Amino acid sequence: MGKVAREIAKLDVDKLIQMLNEALAEEWYAFYQYWVGARVMEGPMRSEVESELLVHANQELNHAVMVADRIVKLGGIPILNPNKWSEFAKCKYEEPNDPYIEAILNQNLSGERCAIKRYEEIAEFTNGKDFSTYQMAITILDEEIEHENDIEDWLTDIDRMREDLKKLKL
Ligand SMILES: [Fe+2]
Ligand SMILES: [Fe+2]
Repeated sequence: MGKVAREIAKLDVDKLIQMLNEALAEEWYAFYQYWVGARVMEGPMRSEVESELLVHANQELNHAVMVADRIVKLGGIPILNPNKWSEFAKCKYEEPNDPYIEAILNQNLSGERCAIKRYEEIAEFTNGKDFSTYQMAITILDEEIEHENDIEDWLTDIDRMREDLKKLKL
């Protein structure tokens, strides 16, 4: 962001860059959460869900690209050292120690719910003040909402499958 652009900005640009760097760290965590979760996952529907988790992972990586590019355009520096991710991320990484599909999906679900709040916060902060960042936040927010919805649907299907199996045993 140029000098005049910064002066006329109707918001605290440094605060916005801080929020975007927090979002950037969270996107890397979200990417890895999906990427490694898809690989260690076990249980019903694994073969169907695995490829979908990798699609989500790629979308998270694309969010990281969008957020980092926006930080640079605002005159900031994207986090340069992955060691800093844990300091910045408010949405935490959850180690997938339990490979059962429901456990993996629940970890991804809590990440998505945190991401939705994150982009709502950025959208509210920039609404009517920084249209480019606002537009980006809304674009990402829509995808995070879709991700949450996908995961909820898979969890419902797994639940349904379990109930149907129980009935068969009776
Ligand atoms: Fe994301
Ligand atoms: Fe997501």
